[in-house]
Order: sequence, then structure tokens, then C-alpha cells
Amino acid sequence: MEQDLYPPSAETLEGARIKSYDEVSKRAAADPEDYWAREASELEWFEPWTQVLDWQPPFAQWFLGARCNIVHNCLDRHLKTWRRNKLALIWESETGEHRNFSYFALHREVTRFANVLKSLGARKGDRITVYMPRIPEQLIAILACARIGAIHSVIFGGFSVDALHERIMDAESRLVITADGGFMNEKVVPLKEMVDQAVRKSPSVEAVLVVRRVTQQRPDLKIPMEQGRDFWYDELAALPIATRPCPCEPMDSEDPLFILYTSGTTGRPKGILHVHGGYMVGAYSTFKNVFDIRDEDRYWCTADAGWVTGHTYIVYAPFLTGATQVMYEGAPSFPYPDRWWSIISRLGVNILYSTPTAIRGLMRYGEAWPDRHDLSSLRLLGSVGEPINPEAWRWFHRVIGKERCPIMDTWWQTETGSFMISPLPCVALKPGTATRPLPGIDMDVVDEHGNPVPQGQDGYLVIRKPWPSMLRTLYKNPDLYKQVYWSKVPGVYTTGDSARKDEDGYIWVVGRMDDVIKVSGYRLGTAEVESALVSHPAVAEAACIGLPHEVKGNSIKAFVVLREGHEAGPELEDELRDHVGTHLSKIARPDAIEIVDKLPKTRSGKIMRRLLKAKELGQPIGDTSTLED
Ligand code: WTA
Repeated sequence: MEQDLYPPSAETLEGARIKSYDEVSKRAAADPEDYWAREASELEWFEPWTQVLDWQPPFAQWFLGARCNIVHNCLDRHLKTWRRNKLALIWESETGEHRNFSYFALHREVTRFANVLKSLGARKGDRITVYMPRIPEQLIAILACARIGAIHSVIFGGFSVDALHERIMDAESRLVITADGGFMNEKVVPLKEMVDQAVRKSPSVEAVLVVRRVTQQRPDLKIPMEQGRDFWYDELAALPIATRPCPCEPMDSEDPLFILYTSGTTGRPKGILHVHGGYMVGAYSTFKNVFDIRDEDRYWCTADAGWVTGHTYIVYAPFLTGATQVMYEGAPSFPYPDRWWSIISRLGVNILYSTPTAIRGLMRYGEAWPDRHDLSSLRLLGSVGEPINPEAWRWFHRVIGKERCPIMDTWWQTETGSFMISPLPCVALKPGTATRPLPGIDMDVVDEHGNPVPQGQDGYLVIRKPWPSMLRTLYKNPDLYKQVYWSKVPGVYTTGDSARKDEDGYIWVVGRMDDVIKVSGYRLGTAEVESALVSHPAVAEAACIGLPHEVKGNSIKAFVVLREGHEAGPELEDELRDHVGTHLSKIARPDAIEIVDKLPKTRSGKIMRRLLKAKELGQPIGDTSTLED
């Protein structure tokens, strides 16, 4: 399997910005600070840096002394060039309407939004929670926060009330930006209703800004607005103050840009903190080099801006490079399973960046759907979120890419901010591996002492040296930052993944070593799902594990101990599933629930999920010496 090699075609190689991985990697490894400084100098800074890196392990600062604003590089910078009139964003709704924005228009809208935020009292350093459907205003709102120096905390629209509430509380947001709802599969997602429930219990929130989406088409829907707290965006945007100039707030390169909550081993989500300067450089450099973006391209990332993929590779990187991107509001199978292929052919998409889950899902509908459309505009494909199984890789390559388009399998994390392991177009590919670390990134597979493991053996996937777009800390919790990422293996950042290296130095990610489950590429913590289950009155205890799933990658199975007086049965199981859906997220609903008398635990009371999983998969149970009984 690992012998299956796809070298770059002559055409790909000819167009490639970087022609030799080895050459650039060697240069970057010899002097990483010089490499990153050169990448950074392609962007505009209000004031230059005096020092590239300050490394006080495990705390890094990049581009010290510099002043910048990521939005200046996304928008304002382009207005001085011909790109002022270039399309920045082509948006298609589920029902097929379009809204297009040139760089000029996007700048105008972001400025207007920023003025509205200011009129509500938002200031530099404030945390603003963004809970939006996939409409242009989702990106506009995020960019507007960054423009005025506020710190955005975007919550994926698929999260429910409790998850939203917990994240608002942790960030102590003063402002929440939402919409009256969103459309998905023709159904209305009641975002404002969830915000109402979440905000009722969140004392920090002073105002809720509501963008009109669903009531435009469904005026019959009544959206309750609380006087003095809730404001319609379109009403404030129509006021004269909204059209005033609103220059980008000059930020220190280490000033926070956003918090993005993600799941980990603890029950509470962790607030990953990124900053303006280094993050901007990582996003810009990786997007430019890996996707080889060109001015004539139309790029489409199918993710939601509520996840890190959407933050870096929808909201920021495409605009940083002056690219044109496509955004689609709805479901991939609406109204038929060829929606994506239809979008590609109608809009002439050249680069498609998607996930293994989506690919496997669309693969199931058969080749007739894509074959109905002209996909010849495609030049390059991308994948992210979980290991792509070689079968899905080959289908993507053959049926969608017509064996012409290289697949950039990009490995990275919310924490890393941008791609870490990924091919460049000039690199020979092997289905199922993201190949090697990008230039300037020092990664390896090691044992618990930090020694490289022999080729072919599993070990910890670690990062040795700091990189510009790394998380700076966990919001309000530097100790946990040290403990989670910098304590398992001495002196290096542990990713939480296990991996092995092959004879070419290609890294094969095996999976997570901790209690993170990737469901459809979405990152969930077992503890989060368990605490959602335990919040149901019938549940005394719960343990969740991930089991292999053909389309979703993993599915969740929950083992539940009931409180006295509650009857097991299919009805209760459905109720528990819905409970997780309404409290945490629909994605987190367990596929299977098994009612048990007790859970296997260590003598210190920790649930041994490993045993449950081994038993479920029919594997050897392994060491049980710590088992309670
Ligand atoms: C997994 C998503 C294999 C990995 C950008 C990582 C991958 C976690 C890949 C981070 C890939 C992401 N191949 N595994 N190309 N991309 N992963 O924070 O386990 O949602 O640690 O970031 O996803 O998930 P997160």
C-alpha cells in the first residue's frame, strides 16, 4: 500500500510556486527565523518587528515590536491595487441565489459592520461571541471584530444551548452576534432562540446583534426581540454613523485575534488563543504554498467558518492572498447529491478543499452524479480533519480530480493555526498520508522520552520548535496549556496523535491517543458527551467511546448506568440521544446506547474506556491490573 506513489505531473510541476520540497525545507531548517521573516515580509506591517522570535518555553512570541492588523492585509491592502475590483466572495444559497462581493464591496461591508459594533460600545480587547449561519455576514462579522481589535469567539452553528452558554461564560463576552436563523436542508435552524436561552444565564452579555436571514424569506416567523438588549443589524447599519470611515485598529503582533473553543481530555472545552501577527503569517504562507493559489483561481473550502478550518482557510487565508472564494450555504445533497459538482461546474471552481467524511458520504451516491457535470476546471484538491482512507483518496483522485489534480492532505489542529504536515504540489503523493512537515516546521514521531522511534513503529507525533501560528496559550489557563501540550514528552509540543514514519519520512497518522473522538471530522471530547448524558435525570453515569464508522470515520457509542427507578428501553435511548442533541450538538448524538449495571473503573475511579472499546471491537483487553474488580 505504501508503495503506491503519485508523482506530480509535468503540468503541476511547471505551475508550482515551489519546485523542490527538499531545497526549501533544507533552507528553512537551517534558519527557521529567517524563513518565517521572509514569508512575513510579503505582508504589510504598520511598524516592522525588532525581533523575529522570543522563545521562553513553552511560551513563544513572534515578530516582536511589530504593529499590524490581519484585516488590513485581508482587505485594505488590496484596495490600492487592481484587486479592488476583483471578486473576493461568491456566495450561493441553498435555494440558488447569489451574492457576490468585490474586495471593494467586502471592505465596505466589513467597515459598516465594524462601525455598528463600535456603536454598541465594542472596543479593542472585548470578547465577542459569533454564532452565525453560513451567510456572507458570518465572515463579515468576524472580520469586523478583528478590524476593531475585538477578540472573536466563534461558536459553530451546530452547537446547542449549553455548549453556547458555557463558551459565552468562559469568554465573558459583552456582545453576541447571531442571525434570526439559518437554512439547512430547507429547514430553519433557530439560532436566535438558542442565543436567547444561552444569554438568559450569561450576565456578561450586554447586547445581541441580530442579522436578518430567515425572516427575509419567511416573514411569518416571529423573532422575539428583547428591548434594550437585542438589535437588528440592518436597522443599525442604515444609520449615518455606520458609513463613516473605520480604519483598522493598529495591533501589536502579539495582541489576541481570537479564541476558538475545542475539545480535549477535560470535560470543559479549552479556549485556544491565537494572535494577529504570527497567525496571519502562518495562514498566508501555508495557503499560498500548499494550494499554489493564483489570481485567476476560484477556491472553495466546504467547511463551516465556525471551525478552525473555516477560520484559517475561509475567513483569513484566501483574503490574505487576494483570492476569489466560493461559499455555499446548505447541505451537499440538496436538492440532489450532485449539488457540489454542480457548483464546481457552474462557478468554475479550481481548488476544492474538503473532508474525508464528505468525500465518503458523496462516494456512496455513485459516480453518475459527478459524471453529469464538467469538473475540468478543477486543478487541485484538498482534504482535512482526519486520516483519509486510501479508498476514498483514490475515488476523489479518479472520479473528481480525473487523475489530473493532486490531493493536498493537510494535517493540522485548532492549536497549530495552520497546516503543519502537508504535501506541496511538487511532492509525490501516497494515498492516506499527509506526507512530510512543511518547510519551517520541525516534527517527528518519538517515544515518551523524546527519542525518535524506528521507522514503521507507532509513537507520539510531536512538534519540536515553535512556529508563528501556534496557539499562545489556553485562554485564562496557562497552567493547563503547559500541562496538556508540553508535559507528556520533555521539551516538545505533543499533538495528541499517534503516528509512524515510513522509509521516505512520510508521516502516517494513526489517530488520537487521548479522549478525543473525531465524528465526521468534528472534534468532540468523550467527557463533553458524557456530561451531556449525565445532565439527564435518568442517568447516573456514562462512558463514551468512538467506534469505526464507514462514512463518519467514527461514531459514538455510549454506555449508561441508570438511576434507580428508570426503565431501560428504546424510548429512553431515543430520549437520551435527543438530550445530547439539544444540550451539546446534533453531531455528538451517540449512534448506540447500551444500558449497563456498572462501568469498568480503575481503583482511583477513572473510567477505563479502553476496555469498553477493546471488548466492543473484539480485541484483546490488555493490561487490567489497575481495574477495580
Ligand atoms: C486530526 C482540524 C489525519 C488529528 C484542522 C488532529 C488529521 C485533529 C488530519 C485536529 C489529516 C486533522 N490527517 N488526521 N489530514 N487533519 N486531523 O483541532 O487527529 O478539529 O489532531 O483541527 O484532527 O482536529 P481539529
